[in-house]
Amino acid sequence: MSSTFVFASGKGGVGKSTLSASLAVLLARAGRSVVLLDADLGLRSQDLFLGLENSVVYDLMDVASGKCLLSQALLEAPDLPGLSLLPAAQFVRAKDLDPRKLKKMLSLLRKEHDFILIDCPAGLERGLRNVLNAGRGLETILVLTPDDLCVRDGEQVISLLEEKKLPPPRLLVNRLQPDLIHAGEMYSARTVAQVLDVPLLGEVPEDPMVYRAQLRRRLPVDFHCEARTALLRIADRLQGKDPPFPDYGRKKLSFLRRHFAPRPRELAPVQGAPADRDR
Ligand SMILES: Nc1ncnc2c1ncn2[C@@H]1O[C@H](COP(=O)(O)OP(=O)(O)OP(=O)(O)O)[C@@H](O)[C@H]1O
Ligand SMILES: [Mg+2]
Repeated sequence: MSSTFVFASGKGGVGKSTLSASLAVLLARAGRSVVLLDADLGLRSQDLFLGLENSVVYDLMDVASGKCLLSQALLEAPDLPGLSLLPAAQFVRAKDLDPRKLKKMLSLLRKEHDFILIDCPAGLERGLRNVLNAGRGLETILVLTPDDLCVRDGEQVISLLEEKKLPPPRLLVNRLQPDLIHAGEMYSARTVAQVLDVPLLGEVPEDPMVYRAQLRRRLPVDFHCEARTALLRIADRLQGKDPPFPDYGRKKLSFLRRHFAPRPRELAPVQGAPADRDR
């Protein structure tokens, strides 16, 4: 049976594209047949993540408009035959895509693949709505970072799903910093899940390797790093396994880290002067 996961977020830049591409790679490496569908029309990124930026000939909109067959637009990832990319169109807007066409594409893809991962644009606008309107059986993965703004925007996504009578999302909390969680300055993934009252799918720590991988046009799952370890657990959960949760921030910090962690030093307010006087 095929599973379709929609990666959504209220706030932008929380890691949807990085995490969906990474999970697509891990699922394909586990022997599954996977399609990564870039639904971020006008702002595509997944071709870059998979090193396919020079191979795109046809895209999602070409399939929707009948200019090519679905099979012609699907690009196989280099050295990973189980993974294909359906690239987003670059010069169109979300309103140009007819959800009925997307629905048809999804039902064709589901017949031949185990997993379809859909990377959506941020926000509650047409881009996400088009995907949510494209049929039943979609499971939403709400990606967010552990801050108030993101949690508030996450609530809006949950309300949109309720409005559409779709099941609640599973939560993927990204960029957790154990030291800050331990110091009580950042929410843990569990706290965010409790606040939003949705099940936790997984948690990924802040990891400089994510940026360093991106700089090399690679994904964090291609390197030994904490983000990879976290993503492997999440890929297992998507396949129905039940690995333990790491619960970043719960582990006791060493004496040195507890006592010598740099504390924020607030600037003293300067009376009657422009705010940037001491620049
Ligand atoms: N766990 C992490 N640790 C460090 N950096 C991260 C992590 N996850 C994502 N990033 C960085 O955050 C930035 C945004 O990531 P990404 O493009 O995947 O987000 P997005 O949600 O798809 O954004 P958009 O809403 O614009 O589509 C990137 O620079 C990425 O390298
Ligand atoms: Mg993105």
